[in-house]
Amino acid sequence: MKSTVEAMIAEERSKRHDVYADRLSKALSASLAAPASAASFASSSPSIASGRDFILESQPRRTLNDLVLDASVRQQVEELVTEHHRGDLLRSYGVQPRHRILLAGPPGNGKTSLAEAIAEALSVPFFVVRYDALIGSYLGETNQRLKRLFDYVRTTPCVILFDEFDALGKERGDVHETGEIKRVVSSLLLQIDALPTYVVLIAATNHEELLDRAAWRRFEMRLSMAKPSQPMVLDYVKNALATEGVLSRDAVAAVAKLALSSFAEAGDFVREIRRRLILADAGISLNDAIRERSRVWASRMRVPGDGERSVEATTDVRSATDGGKKKGSASVRSSSSTGSASKSGRSSRP
Ligand SMILES: Nc1ncnc2c1ncn2[C@@H]1O[C@H](COP(=O)(O)OP(=O)(O)OP(=O)(O)O)[C@@H](O)[C@H]1O
Ligand SMILES: [Mg+2]
Repeated sequence: MKSTVEAMIAEERSKRHDVYADRLSKALSASLAAPASAASFASSSPSIASGRDFILESQPRRTLNDLVLDASVRQQVEELVTEHHRGDLLRSYGVQPRHRILLAGPPGNGKTSLAEAIAEALSVPFFVVRYDALIGSYLGETNQRLKRLFDYVRTTPCVILFDEFDALGKERGDVHETGEIKRVVSSLLLQIDALPTYVVLIAATNHEELLDRAAWRRFEMRLSMAKPSQPMVLDYVKNALATEGVLSRDAVAAVAKLALSSFAEAGDFVREIRRRLILADAGISLNDAIRERSRVWASRMRVPGDGERSVEATTDVRSATDGGKKKGSASVRSSSSTGSASKSGRSSRP
């Protein structure tokens, strides 16, 4: 009964019949809360939060073409989008589209941006889980909230992002962890298993080594959003400044010397150049601005840990059939060049 109503709600939402979908959703929550209210104090509270309170909801704007992606990551993502666009065909053969994705990699290399772009490509709303609202201090509170969150999410085709996923899906074997986190992880895994395939769950983490092994296994697609290679970063800067002019050879060399460590950092640099060009009121050329700002940037404080820079982009795409071991599993390391980045046919937006 519950899953039938959830499917109806999802269908009405996909047709943008939000009012009707909201009514059905309310009726469902009320009928589910009724028997529990006698048994539990928390769920009988009039101030009970609905699952919607635990997410930030937005219409996605960023597109896949806005992002510079390693060719192999792009290919995997395009396959995912096709699986959902042609989900009915797959389902008619009893096969489901993949819908549990793990994005791992250092900060500022597009995990959150890619999740948003996937929602945009699928034309569904983009939900980001709010841990500040989700994590409760009383025993069992987080689990109850997780349940309400998933009950809500199941009612609509969407992309839901668990950013900093290690905050929830951390290793249960950790001796410092209490029984509560173990219960939360177990409940989270059960909820993930029960998600319908029209909900695309994306987990992002900078610390994949902290994830619970069973959580790791849940993800059918695992993509490494590694540090970009220097040619990729350079490509990004050139594309982002293309409207301002063409970079001279020594301007390119000046940018290369900065060894920008992430797309986020490259984006900051591009914005700084733009600001300089605007405020100089055409009193400075693009290449002069780049040379000038590069000198300033060379002496800026560095992000800790960014000392050693990879000149190789690592694409680690592990299939769900590889046994799900986080260490020693088969991985494809591919060296990305300017060429491979360009071949992926993207444009960039700082
Ligand atoms: N692959 C990319 N292509 C183009 N721009 C990017 C890319 N990755 C990051 N950016 C730029 O850097 C900014 C930060 O990226 P984003 O927040 O997606 O990184 P993140 O991996 O989620 O970082 P964190 O781990 O800190 O959450 C984005 O707003 C975007 O402008
Ligand atoms: Mg992020």
